[in-house]
Amino acid sequence: MPFQKPILHAIFLFLLLLQASTNVSSKSTIEPCANSDSCNALLGYTLYTDLKVSEVASLFQIDPIALLTANAVDISYPDVEHHILPSHLFLKIPINCSCVDGIRKSVSTHYRTRPSDSLSSIADSVYGGLVSADQLREANSIDDPSVLDVGQDLVVPLPCTCFNGTDNSLPAIYLSYVVQPIDSLAAIAARYSTTLTDLMDVNAMGTTAINDGDILAIPIPACASNFPNYAADYGLLVPNGSYAITASHCMQCSCGPQNLNLYCMPASLAVSCSSMQCKNSSLMVGNVTAQQSSAGCNVTSCSYDGFVNGTIVTSLSASLQPRCPGPQQFPALVAPPTTVTRISEFSPAPSPQSDLGGPTNPKSSVVPATGSFPAGFTPANGPSSGLASGASGANSTLNPLPALTSTLLFLFVKLLISVAL
Ligand SMILES: *[C@@H]1O[C@H](CO)[C@@H](O)[C@H](O)[C@H]1NC(C)=O
Ligand SMILES: *[C@@H]1O[C@H](CO)[C@@H](O)[C@H](O)[C@H]1NC(C)=O
Ligand SMILES: *[C@@H]1O[C@H](CO)[C@@H](O)[C@H](O)[C@H]1NC(C)=O
Ligand SMILES: *[C@@H]1O[C@H](CO)[C@@H](O)[C@H](O)[C@H]1NC(C)=O
Ligand SMILES: *[C@@H]1O[C@H](CO)[C@@H](O)[C@H](O)[C@H]1NC(C)=O
Ligand SMILES: *[C@@H]1O[C@H](CO)[C@@H](O)[C@H](O)[C@H]1NC(C)=O
Ligand SMILES: *[C@@H]1O[C@H](CO)[C@@H](O)[C@H](O)[C@H]1NC(C)=O
Ligand SMILES: *[C@@H]1O[C@H](CO)[C@@H](O)[C@H](O)[C@H]1NC(C)=O
Repeated sequence: MPFQKPILHAIFLFLLLLQASTNVSSKSTIEPCANSDSCNALLGYTLYTDLKVSEVASLFQIDPIALLTANAVDISYPDVEHHILPSHLFLKIPINCSCVDGIRKSVSTHYRTRPSDSLSSIADSVYGGLVSADQLREANSIDDPSVLDVGQDLVVPLPCTCFNGTDNSLPAIYLSYVVQPIDSLAAIAARYSTTLTDLMDVNAMGTTAINDGDILAIPIPACASNFPNYAADYGLLVPNGSYAITASHCMQCSCGPQNLNLYCMPASLAVSCSSMQCKNSSLMVGNVTAQQSSAGCNVTSCSYDGFVNGTIVTSLSASLQPRCPGPQQFPALVAPPTTVTRISEFSPAPSPQSDLGGPTNPKSSVVPATGSFPAGFTPANGPSSGLASGASGANSTLNPLPALTSTLLFLFVKLLISVAL
C-alpha cells in the first residue's frame, strides 16, 4: 500500500489544522516573514490600572521617553517619568517587530510573575488582551498553567506587523489594536483616518464583522527615514502626529502635521552628544535657511542621516525651490494625561480633522503643560467611540479559519475517495 503513509500524514496534518482552528477564539493578522529584519511597530494598549509612565515602560521593556514621544506627550513636564497615568487610558506602545519562526512578532517583552497572577490575568488584564493565555503557555512551555511560581520570568509574545513599512505604497507603521466590545470596523476606520476597504485588505477579512478581542493591524501614515542600513536607527518610521527619540536621546524626529517628511532636530534632553553640526557650515541639524532670489528660493538644510558607531551623521543639502518654505511646524504636544475623558467614548466616531488643531490646541511644538487633559489627546488616541459600533453591530458567525478547515475537509475527503478508488 504505497499510499498509506501519505494518507496518515495528511490525516495528522488535518487534525492539527482542525485543532488549531477550534482553539482560536479571537483572530489576529499573521504576517509571514523570511528575513531576520525588524521594523518599528505600535501596540494599542489600554491601562488596566493607574500606572506610572515608568511602570508602563517597564511592562514592555521600552524607554519611558519613547513611550511619551510616541503619544506626543510633552516630555519637558517636571518629573514626567513618574507621572501617574490613569486606568483605562489608551496608549500607543512603540516596539521592535522582528521575525521569529517565520512569523512577525515581538518577543522582547518579559514579565515577572507576582502573587495571585494567573496566565489569563496576565494576558487579559496586565497586557490588555494583546496576548492570550494559550500563547503565554506555549511560548513558555508551561505544562500546568495552574502552577505559576512567583517571580517566574515569562516571555510575552506580542502581535505586530511590518508589511514592508508601507500601505498602498505610502510609508506606514502598523498598530496592533485589540477590538473592544463597542467597536465596529467602520468606527475604527474613521478614528484612524483610513477606509473600511483598506482595513479589510490589510487584515485579509472577508466581512466587516469583528469580535471583542480580535487583534487588527491598523495602518497609520508615517514619515520614513532614509538612513543607511548600517545605522543603529536604520528603518526609523515615525507615525504622523508624533515624535521619536533616537541617537542615544540626542535627536528628536517628528512627523506631521502638514507633510510626511521626517524632521529631526537636537532633542531637548540632549546631553553629551557627538557634534550635531553640518560639516563646513555653521548650520546645526534641523536648521534650514532660505534665501529668496530672482530664480526662486535657495534652501539650504542640515539634516540628520542616522546614528552610526555612536556618531550623529549629518548632511548639508542645497536646493532651489519655487517658493520658500514656511517655518517648520510640529505635531501638537499634550500634557501628561491625568484623566480619561469618557464623553468621547459615547459620542459618534469623531471626524479626525475637526478634533486636532482646533483653536484651543495650537499646532506648535510647545503646549504649556497644564494638569488637564487636552481636547486634542483623546480623538487620535481614544480607545473607543461608541454609537457607530452599536449601529452596525451585525452578528457574525463567519470565522475565516473554520471556513478554511471545512474546505480542507472537503478536499481531503475527495482525495481519500479518489485514492480509495
Ligand atoms: C529588534 O530586534 C531584533 C531581533 O531581536 C534585533 O536584531 C534588532 O537589533 C532590534 N532593533 C532595535 C532597533 O532594537
Ligand atoms: C518595500 O518598500 C520599498 C520602499 O520603501 C519598495 O521599494 C519595495 O518594492 C517594497 N517591497 C515590497 C516587497 O513591497
Ligand atoms: C497627519 O495628521 C494631521 C493632523 O495631525 C492631519 O491633518 C493630516 O491629514 C495627517 N496626514 C496624513 C497623511 O494622514
Ligand atoms: C570641507 O572643507 C575642507 C577644507 O576646509 C575640504 O577639504 C572638504 O572637502 C570640505 N568638505 C565638504 C563636505 O565640503
Ligand atoms: C539651528 O538649530 C539650533 C538647534 O535647534 C537652534 O538653536 C538655532 O537657533 C538654529 N539656527 C538657525 C540659524 O536656525
Ligand atoms: C544657495 O546658498 C548657498 C549657501 O548659502 C550657496 O553656497 C549657493 O551658491 C546658493 N545657490 C544659489 C543657486 O544661489
Ligand atoms: C564602525 O566602527 C567599526 C570599528 O570601530 C568599524 O570597523 C566600522 O567600519 C565602523 N562602521 C562605520 C559604518 O563607520
Ligand atoms: C445576534 O445574536 C443574538 C443572539 O446570539 C440575537 O439575540 C440577536 O437578535 C442577533 N442580532 C442580529 C442583528 O442578528
